[in-house]
This record gives sequence, structure tokens and C-alpha cells, in this order.
Amino acid sequence: MAGEKEKVCVTGAGGFAASWVVKLLLSQDYLVHGTVRQPGDSKFDHFNKLEKASENLKLFKADLLDYESLRSAFLGCRGVFHVASPVPITTVTNPEAEVLEPAVKGTLNVLKACLEANVKRVVVVSSIAAVVKNPNWPNNQVKDESCWSDPEYVESMNTAKKWYYLSKTQAESEALEFGKRSGLEVVTVCPSTILGPVLLSTFTSSSGLLPRGLKGGFGSFGYNYWTVVDVRDFAEALLLTYKKSEAGERYICTSHAIGVEEVVEKYLKIAYPNYNYSDKLSHTEEEEEKLSSEKLQRLGWTYRPLEETLIDSIENCRKIGVLE
Ligand SMILES: NC(=O)c1ccc[n+]([C@@H]2O[C@H](COP(=O)([O-])OP(=O)(O)OC[C@H]3O[C@@H](n4cnc5c(N)ncnc54)[C@H](OP(=O)(O)O)[C@@H]3O)[C@@H](O)[C@H]2O)c1
Repeated sequence: MAGEKEKVCVTGAGGFAASWVVKLLLSQDYLVHGTVRQPGDSKFDHFNKLEKASENLKLFKADLLDYESLRSAFLGCRGVFHVASPVPITTVTNPEAEVLEPAVKGTLNVLKACLEANVKRVVVVSSIAAVVKNPNWPNNQVKDESCWSDPEYVESMNTAKKWYYLSKTQAESEALEFGKRSGLEVVTVCPSTILGPVLLSTFTSSSGLLPRGLKGGFGSFGYNYWTVVDVRDFAEALLLTYKKSEAGERYICTSHAIGVEEVVEKYLKIAYPNYNYSDKLSHTEEEEEKLSSEKLQRLGWTYRPLEETLIDSIENCRKIGVLE
């Protein structure tokens, strides 16, 4: 109906990245449904501070493994931004139950519930974890959307992160297949490491990356080569693909690729000379990842300079008091 606001839903609305998606959608006058697992938890107090939240944001209690709860949250929505997924930071004891099932079965639940609730379009958040682990991709050739992580290769990896890689690869490929089979418009977005300020009053496993690194001078950080995107640019990418992409498309979403030693020398030591940075920072050529976001840029996506992301993140950490 003319003049009526469009209703959309964001899954895992209280997460680091999803909170920014909610903020962006509210600022653009959408009516937003957000799914969370524990409505009423004080960690969602930040929503009260978002402009237009009191009139245009409604939270729903939903778990990815509870189909009916998802369907109720999606009723009346034209679009869904499926952001929720387990992002483990420590070793998981039961990868099937803790990571794979919520990611893969959870995504299929979301898509089936979308079909039943007459949702037209779903933007599924994947990750470059679903792109980069492909031993058959030619060395030195920039990875684009045609590159997929190879599940067999990922399974053979000797790292706890493999369950996350597998979960994102499987969830994304099944989501695109589901779209082809069902006619539901599915678009996937594969962000690199997401950095930036938090809207929540606490840090989640992923948003805590930079403060953890800074506290240890990046010495035992484990990320020697950074491929990163700002959380605010990521949110813009989701909305852009929702509005402009053809159905069935996949987009890599990354802005900067840089060694940790350069991040420290070029940006952090200059803006924040008083932290105790490790003097043994370096990366190897094998750790370098060459990825292209050209396809997303062709839709009109732009991104901010890395310096802005780093400074805004650190200032935000200081304000919250996590760097004391
Ligand atoms: N952060 C990164 O660097 C990065 C990079 C690439 C891709 N991604 C992807 O971006 C998305 C958001 O990540 P993030 O960094 O914002 O992580 P986050 O802050 O940990 O948020 C993850 C969200 O998923 C929800 N969730 C997890 N399991 C769930 C379940 N069984 N049912 C319902 N909700 C569930 C969590 O809900 P609760 O609040 O209830 O725990 C939380 O809201 C994820 O899909 C992640 O794979 C992140």
C-alpha cells in the first residue's frame, strides 16, 4: 500500500554485526523485527538508544533450531537478513551440536520459514570462510565469488576453526541451492573479518578481536595478515544487495588486506604510541589472502579507510572501558 513502511526481519539482531544492520534499517525507515534468544536481557539495552527503535523495532524470541519461533518472527516481512550463526572463539567440544547444526539446519529453517511466511527475499550472511579454503585455486589468482572452500580439504585441516569454515561453506551452498529449488530470492554476502565499534555494551567473541589484540601488543594474536571490513560498511552491503542484487548471487565483502606489522607501524603506533606493541610482528607470503569485492562495488558499494575503522574501534573500546 502506498506510503506503508516496509517490514523486514534481522536474525540474531543483538549480535555485533546484526546490531548495526538493525540501526541502518531503522535509519532508513524500515519496520524491523529482530530475533534474539533472550529478550529482556540487559545486553539488548543498546536498542533503546537507537533512533526510531521505540516505534519501529520489535524483538521476537527465536532460536535457529526452533522453526515455529522463526516463522512467527517473519510473518508480514518482505525481507529477511539472516545474520545469526555461531561464531566460536574457543575450541568447541561438540562441533555438530554447537556449530554445524545451528548454522546449517538453522539456515534451512530460516529459509523454509521464509517461504511459509511469504517473505520475498533473504540476504544470508556467509563468510570468506566459505571462499578461501580451496587448494585447487591457482596461486596468486585473486579469489572471486566463483571460488568455494572445499569441504573435504577443510575437514582435513588441523585447526579448531575448521568447524566454523565447514558450517559457513555448507550453510551458504545449501542456501543458494534452496533458492534455486524454491523460487525464494536468496542472496549471500561473504564478509572478511568484521571490525569496528560496537553498539552493545559488551563485546562478543568476534567484536572483541581488536581489544584482545591490543592488550597483548598483537604478539600472540594469531592473525598475522588481516582481510577486514568495517561493520558499518558491512551493514550497507547487506542493504545494498537486498535492494539491488539479482536473486541467486553471491558477494565477497572485504575492504582492506594488510599485514599486522603494517597495521601497527602505519596506523596504531602513530595514533596510539603508548601501547606496548610486540616488536616481532610479521606475516608470511602464504598467509596473504587476495580477495576481490569488485562485484559488490559494481552494485555501488564503497568503504571507509582502515584508519577510520581502527580509530573508531579503539575510541569505542576506551569509552566502554575495556582497554584499562
Ligand atoms: N565477526 C566477523 O569477523 C565475521 C566475519 C565473517 C562472517 N561473519 C558472520 O557474521 C554473522 C554475525 O557475526 P558477529 O560477528 O556479529 O557474531 P556475534 O556477535 O557472535 O553474533 C552472532 C549472533 O548469532 C546468534 N546465534 C548463534 N547461535 C544461535 C542460535 N542457535 N539461534 C539463534 N541465534 C543464534 C547469537 O545470538 P545470541 O546473542 O543469543 O548469542 C548472536 O546474535 C555470522 O553469521 C558470522 O558467521 C562474522
